Amino acid sequence: MNQIHFFNLTSTFFPVLYLVFFTFFFQARKVTAVDENFRICRVPRYCGKINIKFPFFIQGRDEPRCGYPGFEIQCRNNSLPSFSFGDGDYIINDIYYHNQSCHLSRAVSFDKYAICSHSIRNISLPSDRFLLPSLQNKTFLFFNCNLSSSRELSRYNIHCAAKNESNATLALFSNDPMLNFASEYCDTRVVVPVAFTSGEGSLEGMLNRGFMVEWITSNCSICEASGGKCGFDNATSHFKCFCRDRPHAWLCRPKNKNELRFKLGLGLGKPTPYLSIFSEVLIKGNRNIYR
Ligand SMILES: *[C@@H]1O[C@H](CO)[C@@H](O)[C@H](O)[C@H]1NC(C)=O
Ligand SMILES: *[C@@H]1O[C@H](CO)[C@@H](O)[C@H](O)[C@H]1NC(C)=O
Ligand SMILES: *[C@@H]1O[C@H](CO)[C@@H](O)[C@H](O)[C@H]1NC(C)=O
Ligand SMILES: *[C@@H]1O[C@H](CO)[C@@H](O)[C@H](O)[C@H]1NC(C)=O
Ligand SMILES: *[C@@H]1O[C@H](CO)[C@@H](O)[C@H](O)[C@H]1NC(C)=O
Ligand SMILES: *[C@@H]1O[C@H](CO)[C@@H](O)[C@H](O)[C@H]1NC(C)=O
Ligand SMILES: *[C@@H]1O[C@H](CO)[C@@H](O)[C@H](O)[C@H]1NC(C)=O
Ligand SMILES: *[C@@H]1O[C@H](CO)[C@@H](O)[C@H](O)[C@H]1NC(C)=O
Ligand SMILES: *[C@@H]1O[C@H](CO)[C@@H](O)[C@H](O)[C@H]1NC(C)=O
Repeated sequence: MNQIHFFNLTSTFFPVLYLVFFTFFFQARKVTAVDENFRICRVPRYCGKINIKFPFFIQGRDEPRCGYPGFEIQCRNNSLPSFSFGDGDYIINDIYYHNQSCHLSRAVSFDKYAICSHSIRNISLPSDRFLLPSLQNKTFLFFNCNLSSSRELSRYNIHCAAKNESNATLALFSNDPMLNFASEYCDTRVVVPVAFTSGEGSLEGMLNRGFMVEWITSNCSICEASGGKCGFDNATSHFKCFCRDRPHAWLCRPKNKNELRFKLGLGLGKPTPYLSIFSEVLIKGNRNIYR
């Protein structure tokens, strides 16, 4: 009796099962249709409180395809993102994606001894990827300055212990009119970019507050605004915009023709990226015909 009842039930529900089966089938197809690059790179990444996005990726943790070569960073203690440049390690205090800049400071902070003993070095930024904002202040540190013959310079003396007037250390801002004059009376100099010059505190304090750098890569905002995730295609060594359907050259497919026409119109000055969208749309069109 029970068995018959069971069969009756299934036969009644057969159309429903059929429907459920097909719903799952199409759902599954939809899921597998999401491009692998997009699926991987859309996962939010953090190091401490800082959002890590293109072009950055944490070495040994994040997929390099979600970043750009040369922008691999470390995530110290799982909380502090940092860079290694030729002259040492720098902590990334903040990243401003909208203007492609970040606030860096030395991982090992300066004390007065580091300045007076000349162990402070020029920053060695990889100039193919980073640059210092042109308006940013710099502190010039001059070493072995002979102040005996130029009293005017003594107000810049930072009074290192065990130094006298024939080998003083001076600190000047980049906008100081005495800069050239000072360089005549000193041997060596080190230039330290500084973002925060105002406020109380020592010279070391100001140097340790750090500075801004700007980075140079493909502008990711166009791709992101179109719903994509920026990345890098190792096979072609090119920037890619990873979209839900597949990787695109610059941005995900516009939603409708008006938008496309708008973008094509805007793109007259920059033919290459928009030509490639156009060809992508043509290819898409052909595919649709085949279906
Ligand atoms: C690492 O992080 C933990 C917890 O966030 C903290 O207690 C510890 O002091 C940190 N260690 C270093 C070396 O920063
Ligand atoms: C990137 O492109 C967007 C949109 O074209 C623009 O608003 C933004 O200023 C650009 N960013 C940089 C850093 O050039
Ligand atoms: C980028 O924007 C942030 C604030 O959003 C600002 O503090 C920073 O100075 C800007 N960077 C540059 C290089 O202008
Ligand atoms: C410093 O300058 C004075 C005056 O020009 C000169 O007599 C002295 O030899 C200089 N000292 C050094 C260490 O060069
Ligand atoms: C500067 O002065 C200190 C202390 O007098 C001395 O040890 C050092 O050798 C001097 N440096 C030069 C370049 O004269
Ligand atoms: C300053 O220090 C240098 C190097 O130690 C020494 O030769 C010089 O005589 C000192 N000058 C003065 C004025 O003390
Ligand atoms: C540091 O850089 C400046 C130019 O920015 C250069 O004049 C100076 O010689 C450099 N100093 C050292 C110690 O390399
Ligand atoms: C550079 O430093 C001077 C002195 O503190 C300050 O008045 C000026 O606003 C700074 N410039 C910039 C671009 O931060
Ligand atoms: C990218 O390509 C280079 C050689 O062109 C290869 O050495 C490297 O392993 C590739 N990286 C990834 C993540 O596939």
